[in-house]
Amino acid sequence: MDDKLMLMIPGPTPVPESALRALAKHPIGHRSSDFIPIVAEVTENLKWLHQTKSDVLVLTASGTGAMEAGIVNFLSPGDRVLVGCNGKFGERWAEVCEAYNLNVEKITADWGKALDPEQFREKLEADKDKQIKAVIITHSETSTGVLNDLEAINRHVKNHEKALIIVDAVTSLGAVNVPMDAWGIDVIASGSQKAYMIPPGLGFVAVSPKAWEAYKTAKLPRYYLDLGKYRKDAAKNSTPFTPAVNMYFALQETLRMMKKEGLENLFARHQRLMKGTRAAVKALGMSLFAADEVASPAITAVAPIQIEADKIRSLMKKRFDIALADGQDHLKGKIFRIGHLGFVSERDILSALAALESVLLELGCNNFTPGVGVTAAARIFAQPSQN
Ligand SMILES: Cc1ncc(COP(=O)(O)O)c(C=O)c1O
Repeated sequence: MDDKLMLMIPGPTPVPESALRALAKHPIGHRSSDFIPIVAEVTENLKWLHQTKSDVLVLTASGTGAMEAGIVNFLSPGDRVLVGCNGKFGERWAEVCEAYNLNVEKITADWGKALDPEQFREKLEADKDKQIKAVIITHSETSTGVLNDLEAINRHVKNHEKALIIVDAVTSLGAVNVPMDAWGIDVIASGSQKAYMIPPGLGFVAVSPKAWEAYKTAKLPRYYLDLGKYRKDAAKNSTPFTPAVNMYFALQETLRMMKKEGLENLFARHQRLMKGTRAAVKALGMSLFAADEVASPAITAVAPIQIEADKIRSLMKKRFDIALADGQDHLKGKIFRIGHLGFVSERDILSALAALESVLLELGCNNFTPGVGVTAAARIFAQPSQN
């Protein structure tokens, strides 16, 4: 059957009907008076989502554009930065920093493991003359399904006092608690095709007062990504360049939905989706790539044992039109990743798991009793929600 694609990848994520309808509207002029209240509402709700009174600026860019803006606005050539690398997107941070000739010191962990906050503490405490200008990490490492301990790493950055903390929250914002002001996070980058529940195309950068201080002396080149321009225009509920106006319409809808659901419920829902998925994977006798203690509520990476990951993914697509994600870089073909982020419900997880069981049977996998995966998830979902 055509036109029944189910996206179970960690972005782009499914888009709700109200947002699709908003995308289909006729565009309006971004300098028209009609656009002003939309920008005003979206800005207000973005602050709510980031739990901040500071600026959250919207770029017409993907998440990587938001990451790059998070570097070029606050740093200068040669600045010493600590970059957490335990997956594809931590490596991307390092690549962006190297492209701008920063003095990059990587703090690494194996893919599938979390960054060790102690390693950050040691480097930061040893930096007596305050040469470290920023600590840069990925919160939810999408390539492996690991959630790094942002709160603990950030605590060490706060003790250093000078360094900024710059965070890729592309697959954590809206799925996990990231209280920007309460924790004192300086820069948060995210992208529309994740928990925001709209297609790819918008990048978001939240900026603390401390980061704006750094902006004044930062010397890296910037033009389109100069956040000062966006801040100035945001004060008038406007944007410096032509924004993706229809994406604003859609974002207005989904932010309203998120607000209606409430932050606590959003986080609780993602927790339940993660727990249900992980319980099923275990019951099916497959390996989870990340340990329970460091699992990301946005995505579960699975290392199948009996059957090749690619065979599972391609049969899931062919038989059920369910898209699962491949591994990235050296994990290509070795793992598959189930996205459970954004507009995803328990029903979606149960359907995907039932399809997965069917595919495993078709591929001749004989190490599980049919139904155990779905049952394991159903047992999680049968528990009363905490909220
Ligand atoms: C954690 C993380 N950071 C950055 C990105 C890059 O975002 P984009 O592909 O939108 O540029 C992604 C995309 O999947 C991601 O998951």
